[in-house]
Amino acid sequence: MSAIDAYIETHKDRFLSELLDLLRIPSVSADPKYKGDVARCAEAVKQRLIEAGADKVEVCQTAGHPIVYGEKIIDPTKPTVLVYGHYDVQPPDPLDLWHSGPFEPVIKDGLIYARGSADDKGQFYMHVKAVEAMVKTGTLPCNVKIMIEGEEEVGSDNLGLFVKNNKERLKADVVLISDTAMIANDVPSINTGLRGLSYLEVEVTGPNRDLHSGVYGGAVANPINVLCDMISSMHDKDRRITIPGFYDAVKELSTSERKALAEAPFDLEAYKKDLQIDDVLGETGYTSEERSSIRPTLDVNGIWGGYIGEGAKTVLPSKAFAKISMRLVPDQKSDAITKLFKDHFERIAPPSVKVEVRPHHGGEAAVTPIDSPAYLAASKAMEETFGKKPIPTRGGGSIPIVALFEAELGLKTVLFGFGLDSDNIHSPNEHYGVFNYFKGISTIPRFFQHYAASGHKA
Ligand code: BES
Ligand code: MN
Ligand code: MN
Repeated sequence: MSAIDAYIETHKDRFLSELLDLLRIPSVSADPKYKGDVARCAEAVKQRLIEAGADKVEVCQTAGHPIVYGEKIIDPTKPTVLVYGHYDVQPPDPLDLWHSGPFEPVIKDGLIYARGSADDKGQFYMHVKAVEAMVKTGTLPCNVKIMIEGEEEVGSDNLGLFVKNNKERLKADVVLISDTAMIANDVPSINTGLRGLSYLEVEVTGPNRDLHSGVYGGAVANPINVLCDMISSMHDKDRRITIPGFYDAVKELSTSERKALAEAPFDLEAYKKDLQIDDVLGETGYTSEERSSIRPTLDVNGIWGGYIGEGAKTVLPSKAFAKISMRLVPDQKSDAITKLFKDHFERIAPPSVKVEVRPHHGGEAAVTPIDSPAYLAASKAMEETFGKKPIPTRGGGSIPIVALFEAELGLKTVLFGFGLDSDNIHSPNEHYGVFNYFKGISTIPRFFQHYAASGHKA
């Protein structure tokens, strides 16, 4: 057993209880009522980085939630790995569907249940513990910089500015992020792509006030009916998005690229069974895996208006609203797609209503190389700890800062995620495997060793 593995083994219980402590802090970035908790979480992360042996540890204030930064420079001539993660979490709602409190972590059947356990506290904390193990055993083979932000779940707006203003401090050779999923615990994989995002809200206004649906119904536009018509018109019979120009920039994959992706094991029947659906639905001509990774989408995330209280109320509402997001693929640009949507939505609105489109956040898609020294180091590290070579896959989620790291710092990323799609991230009963947590902690130092040995530069 290596000195690092022995160190991890000795400190296992503490590594776990420290994560549980972090999970007890409700660092929900979206809701202002948790602002103090988010700040408290940043301080806790700072403390843990200091204890792990990092230098120059600092809580950096921003216009929003703070960024925590620390580094360990052993030799400036050696390569530098920039680790990124986020300590903020999604709101825990709906609360009544949780089997235990979202911020009262419990371990059941080898799974750590809590909001943020997989996304991303459990995953970024693996790096803090891996760095601790390397520092304390005197085996850190290259430089490491760690940046953990508090606004990933709300679009990373202030991190973009921080990166632009701190190019020297963040100078590195590669970015390492654990914030994605693998195929299964016995089928390791590495994400090599993320989708971009365009998120907006629409408001449809009919009459200037709510009306009696018997007195006016049938003669005056119902904004909810109209909004539903408009939304459903945005997919055609092949489930393609009808916004003119939407697919113009989409980079189609070659037959051989699609073939390579299809090599990842996928069981459609098990997929349907897990979700208790009789059938899937998506764009004609693409598989379920392709639909959820290399193809763009348009989804309503929330829709409201009219009467939704107990019982019935016959009302023709004045307004209807929806939150709509589009997942984007290379080379669609978030701002351009937002504009296409806005123009289209305003154009298709009938004269009987007024519409307003309010953009939220966005982010660009990213693809990462599978032949770089860093990818190969990650692949070797996983092969050693899982006993199987990881399969490169394309993911469907978004981490907008990845494209920015490339644009602003010229850095490529390795998406070294140890979660599973079944972890219920953003959903009630989010969980992360104790197996996955410790697998990450033991695999990360091996990445550092292989990467340092490769003589660096991405
Ligand atoms: N960790 C996720 C992204 C993710 C999940 C990537 C699973 C690949 C697989 C991240 O925290 C996230 O949720 N991102 C948001 C984007 C953000 C702009 C709100 C997302 O994808 O919805
Ligand atoms: Mn995340
Ligand atoms: Mn998330």
